[in-house]
Amino acid sequence: IKKLILDLDTGIDDALALAYALSQKKADLIGVIASYGNTQVEIAAQNTLDLLSLLGHKDIPVYIGERKSLEAKSFETMEVSKQIHGQNGIGDIKIEKSTQSVQTKNGVDFLIDSANEYAENLILVPTGPLTNLAKAFKKDPAAIKKIGNTTFMGGALTVPGNVTSFSEANINQDPLAADIVCKNIPNLTMVGLDVTLRTLLTYKESRQWRNIGSKAAILYAEMLDYYIKAYYDLDIDKQGAAIHDPLAVGLAIDPSYATYISLALKTVYDHTKDYGRIIGDEKKLRLPTDTKAAVNVNAPRFTKHFMDRIDEILAHA
Ligand code: BDR
Ligand code: CA
Repeated sequence: IKKLILDLDTGIDDALALAYALSQKKADLIGVIASYGNTQVEIAAQNTLDLLSLLGHKDIPVYIGERKSLEAKSFETMEVSKQIHGQNGIGDIKIEKSTQSVQTKNGVDFLIDSANEYAENLILVPTGPLTNLAKAFKKDPAAIKKIGNTTFMGGALTVPGNVTSFSEANINQDPLAADIVCKNIPNLTMVGLDVTLRTLLTYKESRQWRNIGSKAAILYAEMLDYYIKAYYDLDIDKQGAAIHDPLAVGLAIDPSYATYISLALKTVYDHTKDYGRIIGDEKKLRLPTDTKAAVNVNAPRFTKHFMDRIDEILAHA
């Protein structure tokens, strides 16, 4: 059984990804690194602790990651992130505080130590900015290169971005980190808006959770309603809201839900109109690569698996 680490900017779809990861039979979640992004890093870490406790897994350790991007002096949550995920990152839903605290080791060192310990048996799924991974790579490239599989949510190859025409939020917040990751991390899979915007949840799913009736199921239903309403109000999608981050978890463990293009990637980080864009690296087009990007997804099959697993974990929490 594989070991799994999530790197979350917890976030509503990050919260969904967390529950989905806990429900996996083929991977064992050994820790969560918190990132800035949908909210400040401390809030993301607290949300993660509280959600783990709500879901009956308060034993899983949470590590604080970087507070801001590699190049920035400070970090401010984007207005659009507050609109989509609420002021507290999880749709302004109040969850009981966990009795656990964050670990004293920082997220970057946890990642390096885990890479050394589990090597190719380790799966890493970052669903926020790629700062922690880039920082860990800069600190100990040999360790980080041992990680078996890294599947990140970010970027938009074939559709417009959600921050600018070319740039998706996770990548836009630290394009330099994304470029380091694109060019150096082995067995890398990009799960971008190309596929994540096709996997939606609707009020039908939140009703289903409410009907389960457990505390966790009701809070998850409230979060999902907030998220769907934000998508509607911001005219992102009138039908439902995208489960970006759960799809990255799903494809990390079972790649067969999607099809891929093999493509060496790079990220534009100079301040042009392409800032924050992930695109194929034209200098490497004729070279073999172990980097791929998901370009199509079997959305019904994936959402069914997601709902089956989530129902089970929410029913027992
Ligand atoms: C990504 O950005 C965040 O807002 C979401 O949690 C997701 O990881 C979508 O662009
Ligand atoms: Ca996220």
